[in-house]
Amino acid sequence: MKVTLLTQDEVRLELACEPAQTVLDAAEAAGIYPLAMCRDGQCGQCGAHAVAGTYSMRPHNLAALPPGIESILLCSCLPQSDLTISLPYDDAQLPRHSVPSRRAVIEALHPAGTSAVSLILRLQADTTLGQAADFLPGQYMEISLPGTSIRRAYSLANLPNWDGTLEFLIRLVPGGAFSGWLAQVAKRGDILSVRGPLGQFTVDETSPRARCLVGGGCGFAPLLSMLRQMAAFQDTTPVHLIYGVNRSEDALPEELFTELREALPQLQTALAVWHGTPGVNAVHGTAAEVLAAHLALAGELPDIYVCGPPKMVEAVLAVAHRAGVPDAQIFFERL
Ligand SMILES: Cc1cc2nc3c(=O)[nH]c(=O)nc-3n(C[C@H](O)[C@H](O)[C@H](O)COP(=O)(O)OP(=O)(O)OC[C@H]3O[C@@H](n4cnc5c(N)ncnc54)[C@H](O)[C@@H]3O)c2cc1C
Ligand code: FES
Repeated sequence: MKVTLLTQDEVRLELACEPAQTVLDAAEAAGIYPLAMCRDGQCGQCGAHAVAGTYSMRPHNLAALPPGIESILLCSCLPQSDLTISLPYDDAQLPRHSVPSRRAVIEALHPAGTSAVSLILRLQADTTLGQAADFLPGQYMEISLPGTSIRRAYSLANLPNWDGTLEFLIRLVPGGAFSGWLAQVAKRGDILSVRGPLGQFTVDETSPRARCLVGGGCGFAPLLSMLRQMAAFQDTTPVHLIYGVNRSEDALPEELFTELREALPQLQTALAVWHGTPGVNAVHGTAAEVLAAHLALAGELPDIYVCGPPKMVEAVLAVAHRAGVPDAQIFFERL
């Protein structure tokens, strides 16, 4: 069967797909590496849309499907005829090489608030790749759980650097394979395998508009990296940060927000607490509700960057669309 991949900028890539081969496997066999992570229909990273042709889907997590008609997951999709698939990104974002794995040592691991940890890794020098941590703010790395085939994605919270430092903010999920290991077993000096950088959730530096960054749950790390970059570049673009948590005790330490406000004088921040008493410097409600209030008062509609759990991202997208923000001004990542 022939599979045609169509990128958003209308580049057509044709590949052969064997019977019982997934589109993801066929693409990789042809030297094309669409975004993917779990390879098992669970994470939604390989979401795309079928435009023409027939297919079946292996069992998968329904919630991982991207919104829209003929939603598919490349890692679960088995063509039944020639198939044309629209990918949700441009050709430039479609790697033609596999992303290498590297080794990194745990340099620091300490609590960040009561329900998250800050993990700092240092890449080990590599003969071909050197030592630098080269990435764009907003991108993520995959980290392997030692001794298993489990891999999890974590957004980088720091800035690219020469000494190979990778900083992550990781929420502790009850019963979580990776976060549980971090909480109970991991220690300074442990070696981890990391792969990346990956992802297209990055800042549109060409836009002249104000920015509104909305984060929920564990979705703060990429926004932190973006804001740190604005501070490092002395970027004076007006910027608003809305950070939503379920309860006030889930909030990240206030020092992180203080650091950002000091480094970026034009930054305005709002902590939205959904349940219980919001506490000092916080408002009651969801991040989407706070965004709705912000957009109602905004003169020109800002660019919106949103990162967090799927339901929170959907709520924010709905608010942004209702306020008239065009799709081209909305950037999002579901965790
Ligand atoms: C692109 C990307 C970037 C990400 N960046 C970050 C990041 O910067 N920081 C971060 O903390 N996480 C991030 N995540 C989520 C992360 O990859 C893991 O899914 C998360 O840490 C849980 O992994 P685990 O192995 O600890 O739990 P698992 O073993 O995968 O899950 C254990 C149980 O908890 C449930 N569960 C999983 N995640 C959550 C959740 N968030 N809330 C409630 N229940 C949950 C599962 O359904 C399961 O029942 C990112 C995900 C993606 C796709
Ligand atoms: S790679 Fe995770 S759903 Fe396909």
